[in-house]
Amino acid sequence: MIAIYPGSFDPITLGHLDIIERGVQLFERVIVTVLSNPSKHPMFSVEKRLEQIRHCTQHLSNVEVDSFQGLTVEYAKLHNAKVLLRGLRVLSDFEKELQMAHTNKTLRDEIETVFLATTKEYSFLSSSIVKEIAKFGGSVAHLVPENVARDIHQYYS
Ligand code: PNS
Repeated sequence: MIAIYPGSFDPITLGHLDIIERGVQLFERVIVTVLSNPSKHPMFSVEKRLEQIRHCTQHLSNVEVDSFQGLTVEYAKLHNAKVLLRGLRVLSDFEKELQMAHTNKTLRDEIETVFLATTKEYSFLSSSIVKEIAKFGGSVAHLVPENVARDIHQYYS
């Protein structure tokens, strides 16, 4: 079974990577899809995010990395995928995630959202937290893959 792991990944964090590494144990193939959100002002271009994700998932043979503009469920249909994979960190994620899952179900009833509970070490971690720490000169080396930490360092220098 193919699962789509959609997100902004601006940038990918160790929490995202943890979901991908666990997702590939459960699904034949996981397609990590960067969805560009026109209302957000990203730190990294979609191309850069694809490169970052490809680099840190190169040890996983059943991961594909792609981008898409449009509805996630339409992307899933294009790839014959029935599952959207998402990580759940804390209770505050639940409302937004449930709303997205329900919305996606109204759009395409055949597509299921599967949630993986985030490993507790990463339950506080988000791309926004990473960007905030980096903006004020803090180290994010323990929060993102090495290649991403380098890119962030370069971004601010
Ligand atoms: O990493 P994020 O920002 O929490 O990911 C959110 C994302 C990209 C998965 C979500 O915004 C999304 O699916 N966007 C594509 C547009 C879409 O399908 N909208 C309907 C579902 S709410």
